[in-house]
Amino acid sequence: MTQRLFIGLMSGTSLDGVDGVLADFSAAPRVLAQASRPMPSELRQDFLRLNSSGEDELHRAALAANGLTRLYAQTVHDLLEQARRLGIDAAAISAIGAHGQTVRHQPGGTNGYTWQLNNPALLAELTGIDVVADLRNADLAAGGQGAPLVPGFHAALWGHGQSELGVLNIGGISNLTLLSPNRPVVGFDCGPGNALMDHWCERHTGQPFDANGQWAASGCVQPAVLERLLDEPFFAQAPPKSTGRDLFHPQWLAARLGEAAHNAAPQDVQASLTALTARVCADHLRRYLPSAQELLVCGGGALNAELMRRLRSELPGLPVLASDARGLPAMQVEACAFAWLAWCWFERRPASRPEVTGARGARVLGALYPASSR
Ligand SMILES: Nc1ncnc2c1ncn2[C@@H]1O[C@H](COP(=O)(O)OP(=O)(O)OP(=O)(O)O)[C@@H](O)[C@H]1O
Ligand SMILES: [Mg+2]
Repeated sequence: MTQRLFIGLMSGTSLDGVDGVLADFSAAPRVLAQASRPMPSELRQDFLRLNSSGEDELHRAALAANGLTRLYAQTVHDLLEQARRLGIDAAAISAIGAHGQTVRHQPGGTNGYTWQLNNPALLAELTGIDVVADLRNADLAAGGQGAPLVPGFHAALWGHGQSELGVLNIGGISNLTLLSPNRPVVGFDCGPGNALMDHWCERHTGQPFDANGQWAASGCVQPAVLERLLDEPFFAQAPPKSTGRDLFHPQWLAARLGEAAHNAAPQDVQASLTALTARVCADHLRRYLPSAQELLVCGGGALNAELMRRLRSELPGLPVLASDARGLPAMQVEACAFAWLAWCWFERRPASRPEVTGARGARVLGALYPASSR
Protein backbone atom coordinates (compact mmCIF):
# COMPACT_ATOMS: atom_id res chain seq x y z
CA MET A 1 0.00 0.00 0.00
CA THR A 2 1.31 3.50 -0.81
CA GLN A 3 2.56 5.32 2.23
CA ARG A 4 0.73 8.49 3.23
CA LEU A 5 3.40 10.31 5.18
CA PHE A 6 2.83 13.43 7.23
CA ILE A 7 4.79 15.30 9.88
CA GLY A 8 3.00 16.76 12.90
CA LEU A 9 4.46 19.54 15.06
CA MET A 10 3.00 20.55 18.40
CA SER A 11 4.11 23.17 20.88
CA GLY A 12 1.50 23.42 23.59
CA THR A 13 0.58 25.65 26.46
CA SER A 14 3.30 24.22 28.71
CA LEU A 15 5.84 26.06 26.52
CA ASP A 16 8.30 23.24 27.20
CA GLY A 17 9.25 22.72 23.57
CA VAL A 18 8.29 21.24 20.23
CA ASP A 19 7.22 17.63 19.78
CA GLY A 20 7.30 16.22 16.27
CA VAL A 21 6.46 12.92 14.65
CA LEU A 22 6.60 11.45 11.17
CA ALA A 23 3.56 9.24 10.73
CA ASP A 24 2.05 7.00 8.07
CA PHE A 25 -1.73 7.17 7.55
CA SER A 26 -2.04 4.60 4.75
CA ALA A 27 -3.70 2.29 7.31
CA ALA A 28 -4.10 2.71 11.07
CA PRO A 29 -1.93 5.70 12.14
CA ARG A 30 1.65 4.58 12.67
CA VAL A 31 4.52 6.72 14.00
CA LEU A 32 7.79 6.12 12.10
CA ALA A 33 10.00 8.74 13.80
CA GLN A 34 9.84 11.09 16.76
CA ALA A 35 11.86 14.20 17.70
CA SER A 36 11.64 16.90 20.37
CA ARG A 37 13.38 20.23 20.74
CA PRO A 38 13.27 22.16 24.03
CA MET A 39 12.02 25.74 23.91
CA PRO A 40 14.99 28.10 24.49
CA SER A 41 14.28 30.01 27.70
CA GLU A 42 14.39 33.42 26.02
CA LEU A 43 11.74 32.37 23.49
CA ARG A 44 9.68 30.87 26.31
CA GLN A 45 9.80 34.17 28.19
CA ASP A 46 8.81 36.02 25.01
CA PHE A 47 5.73 33.80 24.63
CA LEU A 48 4.82 34.13 28.30
CA ARG A 49 4.94 37.91 27.98
CA LEU A 50 2.80 37.73 24.83
CA ASN A 51 0.03 36.02 26.79
CA SER A 52 -1.10 39.47 27.89
CA SER A 53 -0.98 42.78 26.10
CA GLY A 54 2.11 44.96 26.31
CA GLU A 55 4.18 47.48 24.45
CA ASP A 56 5.11 46.83 20.83
CA GLU A 57 3.45 43.44 20.95
CA LEU A 58 2.86 43.07 17.19
CA HIS A 59 6.58 43.38 16.55
CA ARG A 60 7.42 41.02 19.43
CA ALA A 61 4.79 38.53 18.21
CA ALA A 62 6.25 38.48 14.69
CA LEU A 63 9.76 37.85 16.04
CA ALA A 64 8.51 35.09 18.37
CA ALA A 65 6.68 33.45 15.45
CA ASN A 66 9.91 33.45 13.45
CA GLY A 67 11.86 32.01 16.40
CA LEU A 68 9.31 29.23 16.86
CA THR A 69 9.33 28.48 13.15
CA ARG A 70 13.09 28.01 13.18
CA LEU A 71 12.66 25.57 16.09
CA TYR A 72 9.95 23.78 14.07
CA ALA A 73 12.33 23.56 11.10
CA GLN A 74 15.09 22.07 13.28
CA THR A 75 12.62 19.48 14.58
CA VAL A 76 11.64 18.63 10.99
CA HIS A 77 15.31 18.23 10.03
CA ASP A 78 15.79 15.86 13.01
CA LEU A 79 12.85 13.82 11.68
CA LEU A 80 14.18 13.88 8.11
CA GLU A 81 17.52 12.56 9.34
CA GLN A 82 15.75 9.58 10.93
CA ALA A 83 13.56 9.17 7.83
CA ARG A 84 16.65 8.95 5.62
CA ARG A 85 17.96 6.09 7.78
CA LEU A 86 14.62 4.34 7.19
CA GLY A 87 15.04 4.83 3.44
CA ILE A 88 12.38 7.55 3.27
CA ASP A 89 13.10 10.61 1.15
CA ALA A 90 11.78 14.06 2.16
CA ALA A 91 9.97 14.22 -1.21
CA ALA A 92 7.76 11.31 -0.08
CA ILE A 93 6.34 13.40 2.78
CA SER A 94 3.04 15.01 1.77
CA ALA A 95 2.94 17.84 4.30
CA ILE A 96 3.69 19.15 7.77
CA GLY A 97 0.82 19.96 10.13
CA ALA A 98 2.10 22.83 12.30
CA HIS A 99 0.01 24.06 15.19
CA GLY A 100 1.82 27.29 16.11
CA GLN A 101 1.99 28.75 19.62
CA THR A 102 -1.25 29.86 21.21
CA VAL A 103 -0.88 33.26 22.84
CA ARG A 104 -4.59 34.11 23.19
CA HIS A 105 -7.63 31.85 23.25
CA GLN A 106 -10.91 33.72 23.62
CA PRO A 107 -13.52 31.83 21.59
CA GLY A 108 -17.26 32.36 21.73
CA GLY A 109 -19.66 35.12 20.73
CA THR A 110 -19.52 37.04 17.48
CA ASN A 111 -16.05 38.41 18.19
CA GLY A 112 -14.39 35.27 19.51
CA TYR A 113 -10.86 34.54 18.39
CA THR A 114 -7.93 32.26 18.96
CA TRP A 115 -4.38 33.26 18.10
CA GLN A 116 -1.52 30.90 17.26
CA LEU A 117 1.79 32.49 16.38
CA ASN A 118 3.46 30.73 13.47
CA ASN A 119 5.16 31.48 10.15
CA PRO A 120 4.10 28.58 7.93
CA ALA A 121 5.43 30.16 4.72
CA LEU A 122 8.88 30.36 6.31
CA LEU A 123 8.56 26.76 7.53
CA ALA A 124 7.74 25.60 3.98
CA GLU A 125 10.76 27.56 2.72
CA LEU A 126 13.13 26.16 5.38
CA THR A 127 12.05 22.54 4.95
CA GLY A 128 11.00 22.27 1.28
CA ILE A 129 7.80 20.56 2.43
CA ASP A 130 4.22 21.85 2.14
CA VAL A 131 2.77 23.11 5.42
CA VAL A 132 -0.81 22.97 6.67
CA ALA A 133 -1.39 25.58 9.38
CA ASP A 134 -4.12 27.75 10.92
CA LEU A 135 -6.00 24.66 12.01
CA ARG A 136 -8.45 26.27 14.43
CA ASN A 137 -10.00 29.22 12.64
CA ALA A 138 -12.44 27.35 10.35
CA ASP A 139 -14.11 25.88 13.41
CA LEU A 140 -14.27 29.29 15.10
CA ALA A 141 -15.76 30.81 11.95
CA ALA A 142 -18.47 28.15 12.15
CA GLY A 143 -19.29 29.25 15.69
CA GLY A 144 -17.14 26.69 17.52
CA GLN A 145 -14.52 26.91 20.23
CA GLY A 146 -11.74 25.87 17.82
CA ALA A 147 -10.68 23.45 20.54
CA PRO A 148 -10.08 20.74 21.43
CA LEU A 149 -9.25 19.37 17.97
CA VAL A 150 -7.73 16.08 19.07
CA PRO A 151 -10.93 14.14 19.89
CA GLY A 152 -11.37 13.20 16.21
CA PHE A 153 -7.88 11.73 16.22
CA HIS A 154 -8.46 9.92 19.51
CA ALA A 155 -11.61 8.44 17.98
CA ALA A 156 -9.70 7.37 14.85
CA LEU A 157 -7.09 5.66 17.03
CA TRP A 158 -9.07 4.17 19.87
CA GLY A 159 -12.76 4.58 19.05
CA HIS A 160 -13.39 1.34 17.18
CA GLY A 161 -13.82 -1.08 20.06
CA GLN A 162 -16.88 -1.88 22.11
CA SER A 163 -15.58 -0.45 25.37
CA GLU A 164 -16.23 2.97 26.89
CA LEU A 165 -13.03 4.88 27.11
CA GLY A 166 -11.68 8.21 28.33
CA VAL A 167 -8.56 9.73 26.74
CA LEU A 168 -7.03 12.42 28.92
CA ASN A 169 -4.32 14.68 27.52
CA ILE A 170 -2.47 16.48 30.30
CA GLY A 171 -0.47 19.27 28.69
CA GLY A 172 -0.38 22.81 30.06
CA ILE A 173 -4.17 22.55 30.02
CA SER A 174 -5.89 19.18 30.23
CA ASN A 175 -8.50 17.95 27.80
CA LEU A 176 -10.66 14.87 27.94
CA THR A 177 -12.13 12.83 25.07
CA LEU A 178 -14.94 10.37 25.80
CA LEU A 179 -15.39 7.46 23.42
CA SER A 180 -18.42 5.30 23.64
CA PRO A 181 -19.86 2.89 21.02
CA ASN A 182 -22.99 4.17 19.22
CA ARG A 183 -22.63 7.73 20.42
CA PRO A 184 -20.80 10.75 18.97
CA VAL A 185 -17.43 11.55 20.48
CA VAL A 186 -17.47 13.99 23.39
CA GLY A 187 -14.52 16.20 24.30
CA PHE A 188 -13.66 19.39 26.18
CA ASP A 189 -10.96 21.13 28.17
CA CYS A 190 -11.11 20.29 31.88
CA GLY A 191 -8.90 23.07 33.25
CA PRO A 192 -5.29 23.06 34.34
CA GLY A 193 -2.97 20.32 33.50
CA ASN A 194 0.67 21.17 34.15
CA ALA A 195 0.74 24.95 33.62
CA LEU A 196 0.12 26.00 37.24
CA MET A 197 2.31 23.23 38.66
CA ASP A 198 5.12 24.25 36.31
CA HIS A 199 4.78 27.89 37.32
CA TRP A 200 4.86 27.13 41.05
CA CYS A 201 7.74 24.69 40.69
CA GLU A 202 9.86 27.10 38.66
CA ARG A 203 9.19 29.94 41.08
CA HIS A 204 10.20 27.97 44.17
CA THR A 205 12.78 25.47 42.94
CA GLY A 206 14.08 27.03 39.71
CA GLN A 207 13.21 23.81 37.87
CA PRO A 208 10.88 24.07 34.84
CA PHE A 209 8.70 21.21 36.08
CA ASP A 210 8.30 18.87 39.02
CA ALA A 211 10.10 15.78 37.67
CA ASN A 212 8.00 12.72 38.42
CA GLY A 213 5.98 14.83 40.86
CA GLN A 214 8.60 14.14 43.53
CA TRP A 215 8.42 17.60 45.04
CA ALA A 216 4.61 17.42 45.22
CA ALA A 217 4.91 13.98 46.82
CA SER A 218 7.06 15.51 49.57
CA GLY A 219 4.22 17.90 50.53
CA CYS A 220 0.73 17.52 51.96
CA VAL A 221 -2.46 18.61 50.24
CA GLN A 222 -4.00 21.55 52.09
CA PRO A 223 -7.78 20.93 51.96
CA ALA A 224 -8.66 24.63 52.39
CA VAL A 225 -6.29 25.60 49.57
CA LEU A 226 -7.67 22.86 47.33
CA GLU A 227 -11.24 24.03 48.01
CA ARG A 228 -10.36 27.60 47.01
CA LEU A 229 -8.71 26.38 43.82
CA LEU A 230 -11.73 24.24 42.97
CA ASP A 231 -14.06 27.21 43.42
CA GLU A 232 -13.64 28.26 39.79
CA PRO A 233 -16.80 28.55 37.64
CA PHE A 234 -15.06 27.08 34.57
CA PHE A 235 -14.94 23.66 36.26
CA ALA A 236 -18.73 23.51 36.66
CA GLN A 237 -19.46 24.94 33.21
CA ALA A 238 -21.07 22.47 30.78
CA PRO A 239 -19.33 21.64 27.48
CA PRO A 240 -18.57 22.78 24.85
CA LYS A 241 -15.74 24.53 26.63
CA SER A 242 -12.08 25.27 26.12
CA THR A 243 -9.57 27.37 27.97
CA GLY A 244 -5.95 28.40 28.16
CA ARG A 245 -3.45 30.61 29.89
CA ASP A 246 -5.91 33.47 29.40
CA LEU A 247 -7.73 32.10 32.45
CA PHE A 248 -5.24 29.86 34.28
CA HIS A 249 -2.37 32.31 34.67
CA PRO A 250 -0.13 33.15 37.66
CA GLN A 251 -2.47 35.98 38.74
CA TRP A 252 -5.38 33.51 38.87
CA LEU A 253 -3.29 31.32 41.14
CA ALA A 254 -2.17 34.20 43.36
CA ALA A 255 -5.76 35.39 43.78
CA ARG A 256 -7.01 31.89 44.66
CA LEU A 257 -4.18 31.16 47.04
CA GLY A 258 -4.56 34.43 48.91
CA GLU A 259 -2.45 34.40 52.05
CA ALA A 260 -1.63 30.72 51.57
CA ALA A 261 0.76 31.85 48.82
CA HIS A 262 3.02 33.17 51.61
CA ASN A 263 1.98 31.13 54.64
CA ALA A 264 1.79 27.56 53.31
CA ALA A 265 4.91 25.50 52.68
CA PRO A 266 5.62 25.68 48.92
CA GLN A 267 5.67 21.89 48.57
CA ASP A 268 2.19 21.74 50.17
CA VAL A 269 0.92 24.17 47.53
CA GLN A 270 2.55 21.97 44.85
CA ALA A 271 0.81 18.92 46.32
CA SER A 272 -2.48 20.85 46.27
CA LEU A 273 -1.97 21.91 42.63
CA THR A 274 -1.25 18.31 41.66
CA ALA A 275 -4.40 17.25 43.52
CA LEU A 276 -6.33 19.99 41.71
CA THR A 277 -5.41 18.66 38.26
CA ALA A 278 -6.24 15.08 39.28
CA ARG A 279 -9.54 16.08 40.91
CA VAL A 280 -10.72 18.28 38.05
CA CYS A 281 -9.97 15.62 35.41
CA ALA A 282 -11.52 12.81 37.48
CA ASP A 283 -14.62 14.92 38.23
CA HIS A 284 -15.21 15.53 34.52
CA LEU A 285 -14.83 11.83 33.73
CA ARG A 286 -17.26 10.90 36.53
CA ARG A 287 -19.74 13.53 35.35
CA TYR A 288 -19.70 12.78 31.62
CA LEU A 289 -18.77 9.09 31.31
CA PRO A 290 -19.42 7.42 34.66
CA SER A 291 -19.46 4.01 32.95
CA ALA A 292 -15.91 4.40 31.55
CA GLN A 293 -14.00 1.12 31.56
CA GLU A 294 -10.55 2.59 31.06
CA LEU A 295 -8.75 5.94 31.14
CA LEU A 296 -5.79 6.46 28.80
CA VAL A 297 -3.50 9.33 29.74
CA CYS A 298 -1.22 11.16 27.33
CA GLY A 299 0.81 14.37 27.30
CA GLY A 300 3.59 15.22 29.73
CA GLY A 301 1.31 14.71 32.73
CA ALA A 302 1.46 10.96 32.08
CA LEU A 303 5.15 11.14 33.06
CA ASN A 304 4.32 12.65 36.45
CA ALA A 305 4.10 9.60 38.76
CA GLU A 306 2.54 11.54 41.63
CA LEU A 307 -0.16 12.97 39.37
CA MET A 308 -0.90 9.49 37.98
CA ARG A 309 -1.06 8.12 41.54
CA ARG A 310 -3.56 10.81 42.50
CA LEU A 311 -5.66 10.17 39.39
CA ARG A 312 -5.80 6.48 40.23
CA SER A 313 -6.84 7.17 43.80
CA GLU A 314 -9.58 9.54 42.54
CA LEU A 315 -10.90 6.76 40.28
CA PRO A 316 -10.72 3.56 42.32
CA GLY A 317 -11.24 0.39 40.31
CA LEU A 318 -10.72 2.11 36.94
CA PRO A 319 -7.60 1.15 34.97
CA VAL A 320 -5.68 4.43 34.45
CA LEU A 321 -2.95 3.76 31.88
CA ALA A 322 -0.43 5.85 29.99
CA SER A 323 -1.35 5.74 26.29
CA ASP A 324 1.89 3.79 25.67
CA ALA A 325 -0.08 0.73 26.81
CA ARG A 326 -2.43 1.20 23.84
CA GLY A 327 0.19 1.68 21.16
CA LEU A 328 1.16 5.37 21.17
CA PRO A 329 3.66 6.85 23.66
CA ALA A 330 2.22 9.68 25.77
CA MET A 331 4.49 12.37 24.31
CA GLN A 332 3.67 11.46 20.69
CA VAL A 333 -0.13 11.65 20.75
CA GLU A 334 -0.58 15.41 20.29
CA ALA A 335 2.07 15.72 17.56
CA CYS A 336 0.55 12.71 15.78
CA ALA A 337 -2.85 14.40 16.00
CA PHE A 338 -1.48 17.38 14.06
CA ALA A 339 0.04 15.08 11.43
CA TRP A 340 -3.44 13.48 11.18
CA LEU A 341 -5.06 16.91 10.83
CA ALA A 342 -2.72 17.66 7.90
CA TRP A 343 -3.68 14.30 6.36
CA CYS A 344 -7.36 15.20 6.83
CA TRP A 345 -6.74 18.47 4.97
CA PHE A 346 -5.22 16.56 2.06
CA GLU A 347 -8.21 14.24 2.03
CA ARG A 348 -10.52 17.30 2.29
CA ARG A 349 -12.01 15.49 5.22
CA PRO A 350 -13.76 17.65 7.82
CA ALA A 351 -11.72 16.97 10.97
CA SER A 352 -13.46 19.08 13.58
CA ARG A 353 -16.20 17.56 15.70
CA PRO A 354 -19.10 20.00 16.04
CA GLU A 355 -20.47 18.03 18.99
CA VAL A 356 -17.14 18.81 20.73
CA THR A 357 -16.53 22.40 19.70
CA GLY A 358 -20.15 23.58 19.41
CA ALA A 359 -19.70 24.66 15.77
CA ARG A 360 -22.56 24.65 13.25
CA GLY A 361 -20.97 21.74 11.42
CA ALA A 362 -17.75 19.86 10.76
CA ARG A 363 -15.20 21.79 8.70
CA VAL A 364 -12.07 21.05 6.69
CA LEU A 365 -9.41 22.60 8.93
CA GLY A 366 -6.31 24.51 7.93
CA ALA A 367 -4.72 26.28 5.01
CA LEU A 368 -1.91 25.11 2.73
CA TYR A 369 1.42 26.87 2.38
CA PRO A 370 3.12 25.17 -0.58
CA ALA A 371 6.88 24.69 -0.73
CA SER A 372 8.24 26.20 -3.89
CA SER A 373 10.97 23.57 -4.36
CA ARG A 374 8.44 20.87 -5.25
N1 LIG B 1 9.17 13.47 33.82
C1 LIG B 1 8.20 14.35 34.05
N2 LIG B 1 7.70 14.49 35.29
C2 LIG B 1 6.71 15.37 35.55
N3 LIG B 1 6.17 16.16 34.62
C3 LIG B 1 6.63 16.06 33.36
C4 LIG B 1 7.65 15.16 33.00
N4 LIG B 1 7.89 15.30 31.67
C5 LIG B 1 7.04 16.25 31.23
N5 LIG B 1 6.28 16.72 32.24
C6 LIG B 1 5.27 17.78 32.19
O1 LIG B 1 4.69 17.81 30.92
C7 LIG B 1 4.76 19.12 30.37
C8 LIG B 1 4.85 19.04 28.88
O2 LIG B 1 3.79 18.26 28.41
P1 LIG B 1 3.20 18.46 26.97
O3 LIG B 1 4.29 18.72 26.00
O4 LIG B 1 2.29 17.31 26.72
O5 LIG B 1 2.33 19.77 27.17
P2 LIG B 1 1.99 20.93 26.16
O6 LIG B 1 3.25 21.36 25.49
O7 LIG B 1 1.22 21.94 26.91
O8 LIG B 1 1.11 20.20 25.10
P3 LIG B 1 -0.42 20.31 24.63
O9 LIG B 1 -0.88 21.73 24.71
O10 LIG B 1 -0.31 19.82 23.24
O11 LIG B 1 -1.22 19.39 25.43
C9 LIG B 1 5.95 19.77 31.05
O12 LIG B 1 5.82 21.16 31.08
C10 LIG B 1 5.87 19.14 32.45
O13 LIG B 1 4.97 19.85 33.24
MG1 LIG C 1 4.85 20.39 24.97
